[in-house]
Order: sequence, then C-alpha cells, then structure tokens
Amino acid sequence: MTIRAIRCHQLGSFNKLTVDELPEPTVQAKHVVIKVYAVAINYRDLLLVQGKYQEKPKLPFIPGTDFSGVIEQVANDVHGMAAGDRVMVVGSWGALAEKTLVKASQVLPIPKAIPFDVAATLPTAYGTALYALRQRGKLTPNETLLVLGAGGGVGLAAVQLGHHMGANVIAVAGDSAKLEKARTDGAQTLINYTDTDLVTEVKRITAGRGCDAILDCVGADAGSAAVRCVAWNGRILIVGFAGGAIPALPNNRLLLKGASAVGVNFGAHVVREVDTFRANLAEIFTWVEDRKIRPRIYKHYPLQDTACAMSELEDRQVVGKVVVTLNE
Ligand SMILES: NC(=O)c1ccc[n+]([C@@H]2O[C@H](COP(=O)([O-])OP(=O)(O)OC[C@H]3O[C@@H](n4cnc5c(N)ncnc54)[C@H](OP(=O)(O)O)[C@@H]3O)[C@@H](O)[C@H]2O)c1
Repeated sequence: MTIRAIRCHQLGSFNKLTVDELPEPTVQAKHVVIKVYAVAINYRDLLLVQGKYQEKPKLPFIPGTDFSGVIEQVANDVHGMAAGDRVMVVGSWGALAEKTLVKASQVLPIPKAIPFDVAATLPTAYGTALYALRQRGKLTPNETLLVLGAGGGVGLAAVQLGHHMGANVIAVAGDSAKLEKARTDGAQTLINYTDTDLVTEVKRITAGRGCDAILDCVGADAGSAAVRCVAWNGRILIVGFAGGAIPALPNNRLLLKGASAVGVNFGAHVVREVDTFRANLAEIFTWVEDRKIRPRIYKHYPLQDTACAMSELEDRQVVGKVVVTLNE
C-alpha cells in the first residue's frame, strides 16, 4: 500500500515541491502511525523548504509541523493510546503526508468538539503566543500589550489571547484587512505601520507611558522602533523576524526603562517544559471549546496545492492560518 506525501527534493522554491507516492509507514517501538487530516502551515515550514532555517533536514524530506488526525496503529510498548483516538502533534517536519509515523511522546489528544482543521492551527501559533504572554511576558490584566505582525499566525493568536487575559491590546500590521480582523478579535487600537509612525502613535495612545509588553513577530524596522515604545518595567518578547532583519536592541533604552528583552523559544519550551506546554494547550482547548478564542482559518488547500498555501503565506496574504486538508 502507498500514501501520497509532499516532498522537498531541492531547497529553494515551493514550486519544486512534489507529490510523491511512498510506502505506508509501519509502526515502530514507542511510535504511533497517524492518519493525517489537517496540517497548518507555519512560517517555519517556509524557511525549512527554502533552506533558511537553522535546522536542515536530510533531502528529500516531507515538510509540515503542526497537524491533527486519527491514530491508526500503536506500538506494543505504547500505553494510554489506541487506534481511533483523535490527536494532534507539533513536530519538526514530516506532517504533509496521508499517514505519518511519530513518537508517542509527541502526541496530544484533542477534544471531540474541536474540528481537525482548528486543532492543527493551535500548537505553534497559540502555543507560542500563550507561552510568550504568560510564562515569558508575565502579562497581567489591564496592562497594555503591543503586537507586531498582528494579522499573522502567532500575532493574531496573541491579540486574541491578550484580550482574553484582560490586556489592552494595540495591534500593529501593514494591511487594513488584517487590522480589521485584529479589531474583531479583541484589539482596542490599530496601527498600520506602513503609513503611521509607530513610536509617535504609541506615545499618543498611551499618553507617553508606553506599552507593558511588546510581542514582536516581525523584527526589522518595526522591531527596532518598538524598543522606543516600551513602558517602565516593560517586557519586549522576541518571537520572530518575519521582516528579515534582526534588530540590535539598544541596552541604554532597556536600562532607562528598567525593561527586559525576553527570548521566546517555543521549540525548546515544548521539549524542556513539556508539562507547562501541555497545560497551556489544555487551557487553549478549553478557551476554543468555550468560544473565548476563535482561530481564524484564512483558506483550506488540498495536499497537491501545498505550494500555493506556502506562497500565500510568504506573500503576506494570509490572515490567521492557512490549512492543508487530507483524507476527506
Ligand atoms: N520564537 C518562536 O518560538 C517562534 C514560534 C513561531 C513562530 N516564530 C516566528 O515568528 C514569526 C511570525 O510567525 P507567524 O507564523 O506568525 O508568521 P505569519 O503568519 O507569516 O505572520 C508574519 C507577519 O509578519 C509580517 N511581516 C512583516 N514583514 C514581512 C515579510 N517581509 N515577510 C513576511 N511577513 C512579514 C506580516 O504582517 P504584515 O503584512 O501586516 O506586515 C505577517 O502577517 C516568524 O519569523 C516565525 O519564524 C517563532
């Protein structure tokens, strides 16, 4: 028996990804085989295919990190899981296939009420945003949270979570459609960084006080400017550099504001702090079930159109998450 899978044989353009027929995976010790139903595309997946990510899988490899599906086979030495269980996984790559073999330790059950496509959007986007705001940023109610890249996967999750956690959220993006979604999802104030000076506007909105927490998914010029928007004792949460350039943070500004620059490394958090990661995800599930937060799926794509999904994300068209669906 064979399965279809997306494979990267050559680093670079998404157009070089191929749909290959491969042998079905067979179960191995400490692993399960999962029939995949939905894969959410992350910015990291683009970087991996382009060869720009710090990890370089051996070619050819199957991209895809965050996915949901149903367990088909369970190794004899795996306990507490069974064929038929609805699950999700945050992995490194390997998800964009009709079936995949994963370590049982990476598998999390998903509640019945959460559809597969929604579940796939949660681990990296919402997992990173909640880890950043809660464990790294110590966000408290009534604080002011500035989100850069507020229409993207992690950014929009941070807007929703920050609002739910009681913060006053200022959403920053380069596109009015993204900003309107951020408003619907809880942002009180919107700033378009393509036509407004970020620092002047933040100072105006906060009456010169600045922001208690700044979640930066973008870096580049916006990330550099954001340092000047931090309040006394504020926290700059460094999540990513979608804008390309990595800002050099001026220590003098941090000193003057008693501020902290805090790294957010979700991948390491999942491995090193697995109980905290699982507790955060459990809480995110509850909030989704209770409709306190509503993940936005911009578009669904079939497996063979994965390259289009990746191109749309690269072209900054996507608001929230784009999802590849399989086995429908
Ligand atoms: N530290 C971690 O553990 C961790 C975890 C997850 C993600 N990340 C990183 O965080 C960043 C955001 O991830 P994401 O999944 O939210 O990505 P995304 O969905 O693609 O969103 C990124 C946002 O960045 C903005 N942006 C500005 N300049 C851009 C450019 N040149 N190219 C693309 N986007 C640009 C875009 O908003 P506008 O169009 O409004 O400017 C876009 O909506 C990425 O760098 C990713 O690798 C880090």
